[in-house]
Amino acid sequence: MGCESNEELNSFVEEARKYAEKGKVAEYIPALGRANPCDLAIAIYYPNGTCYSAGDVEKKFTLQSISKVIALALVLIDRGRDYVFERVGMEPTGDPFNSIIKLETMAVAKPLNPMINAGALVVTHMIKGNSIGERFERLASFIRTLSGDPSVSYCEEVAQSEYETAHLNRALCYFLKAHQIIKEDIEPLMELYTKQCAIEMNCLDLARIGLVFAMDGVDPINGKQIIPLDVARICKTFMVTCGMYNASGEFAIKIGIPAKSGVSGGIMGAVPCKFGIGVFGPALNEIGNSIAGIKLLELLSEKYQLSIF
Ligand code: DON
Repeated sequence: MGCESNEELNSFVEEARKYAEKGKVAEYIPALGRANPCDLAIAIYYPNGTCYSAGDVEKKFTLQSISKVIALALVLIDRGRDYVFERVGMEPTGDPFNSIIKLETMAVAKPLNPMINAGALVVTHMIKGNSIGERFERLASFIRTLSGDPSVSYCEEVAQSEYETAHLNRALCYFLKAHQIIKEDIEPLMELYTKQCAIEMNCLDLARIGLVFAMDGVDPINGKQIIPLDVARICKTFMVTCGMYNASGEFAIKIGIPAKSGVSGGIMGAVPCKFGIGVFGPALNEIGNSIAGIKLLELLSEKYQLSIF
């Protein structure tokens, strides 16, 4: 079924950690450049509340693009799928996550999916609320409910660092505003988006969120349906088709777990009906996925036959 002890997980972590030296921490958001490239941690959360973990488990990291799948769940709940998919598409791009190219070459400038930056910015634009503060709080409180951790907050240093350097994301926003997909002022939207990406937690919290997706939106620890079944399924489908950027196809073949990664080195995995996974390893490969984190998931998937395919 899956891993049965912390010791077992520990041996996988130490094997995968060797790969960290081949990667590099993200530097385009300056505050992320200060991470320790050798860190590696994993947690696995089972529906009965058992949690196994190994490595640098207490280290906190920012969600970055992992927040995209959670923000998508929130706006699908709030606005329904017709409203959301009129503004953002459902197809993988094969391009890097911050690319602008398809926006310009498509007949309609609608972003191809909610996991690339252009699509994620449109999703953040759709978060309801009367002010940036209120909209951020709605997302943060949703994440606290999903993780079962009321202390979850955001890292001001990382949010500020991205806000000051997010020139490409601003360009995407202005392009989308010119095409009437985004209809609000861009600076406040950038503030909201950078705070969203800077929400931080450790891999135990992340595994618990992965568990809710794995269980089709139910938190098995308290029996509550936090995300409607159809929304959880849409999110998991995007995790499979677009969750690992333009390496999602390779990840599906080699590992076969619905997963979402972020440039801080986090990966959230949801093994349907089995368990949630939280991984943190800030050294990234050239695509922007945690290099040791991917190796770790590969080892686990092989050993426990976790592929859903
Ligand atoms: O918008 C950015 O560039 C970062 N806040 C998040 C990027 C990331 O994690 C990878 N994107 N899919």
